[in-house]
Amino acid sequence: MDTWYIKYTSLPCSSYWETALTNPHSGKVGVAIVTGASSGIGRVYADRLAARGYDLVLVARREERLREVAADVERLYSVRAEVLVADLSQPAGTQAVVDRLASDASITLLVNNAGFSAMRPLTDTPEATITSMIAVNITALTLLTKAALVAFKARNAGTIVNVGSGAGFAPYPGIPVYGATKAYIYLFTQSLQSEVEGTAVRIQLVLPGAVVSEGWEVAGGATLEQLPEGIVMTTEDCVDAALAGLDQGERVTSPSLQDDTIHRDYEALTQSLLQAMFDRNPAPRYKVGG
Ligand SMILES: NC(=O)c1ccc[n+]([C@@H]2O[C@H](COP(=O)([O-])OP(=O)(O)OC[C@H]3O[C@@H](n4cnc5c(N)ncnc54)[C@H](OP(=O)(O)O)[C@@H]3O)[C@@H](O)[C@H]2O)c1
Repeated sequence: MDTWYIKYTSLPCSSYWETALTNPHSGKVGVAIVTGASSGIGRVYADRLAARGYDLVLVARREERLREVAADVERLYSVRAEVLVADLSQPAGTQAVVDRLASDASITLLVNNAGFSAMRPLTDTPEATITSMIAVNITALTLLTKAALVAFKARNAGTIVNVGSGAGFAPYPGIPVYGATKAYIYLFTQSLQSEVEGTAVRIQLVLPGAVVSEGWEVAGGATLEQLPEGIVMTTEDCVDAALAGLDQGERVTSPSLQDDTIHRDYEALTQSLLQAMFDRNPAPRYKVGG
């Protein structure tokens, strides 16, 4: 397992004070916390949110990478970007982000993006990888969502974006744990809509398909080059579509899904199934008691 550490720094990046004073939009929309901001989808979220005027708190393990991202957005958009180095597979790392969400009233947006996969049958997956994946993809995401929801509901403002995956809809060979963690995120995030009903707090579930990122190398197994070109989206298109969905008020955004009636039909079917699952009598096909 990766060695764990948590190192919180409140030191701003080099141009912090300078730029914060020169951008009239800096901070006006508040502060966004982006987990997994050191690469891939999270890095593009950092860029796009900074372009919208958000100041940022960037979370991941690789401090150097985070500092690069922070320096880039500060230079390009004159916002403030802070680096919070935390290993979300460890309770102390998750707690540091939870504490920040609970104590900083300027935070208006949480993007729960950090996550990883392992393309291996369960029997070949090291136990440390399994526990770490569940800790990052499920436990940290759940605790960060709770902390944000408590704070945002108290202020009746704020947005939570949870990044799931198209792989969470149905069993997909070779990713038994990853697919299941993303199925968790689907059900968990959808379930929370009832907790924000009648408030100004928003929750969006983003379900990318296959997106260009280092995540494929981290996962091992198939490489991006092995996938048909036509099914792989750029990281930028994925985040831009996700933010367009957010702007349009979507609760669920699937950047690659061309025909969204499929998802609406799926939701209707799962509701019918849910209703049909509860009955005191065993189904006749089991021929119980007769
Ligand atoms: N790429 C795809 O095809 C695809 C499709 C559907 C969904 N997604 C989801 O999109 C999200 C982003 O993935 P990506 O594709 O952009 O992959 P990526 O480039 O590998 O990014 C993953 C991010 O998560 C962070 N992370 C991983 N383990 C962590 C830990 N223990 N503590 C803190 N941060 C951790 C990484 O930072 P450090 O390594 O620096 O800690 C990195 O910033 C994930 O939730 C993934 O499941 C991706």
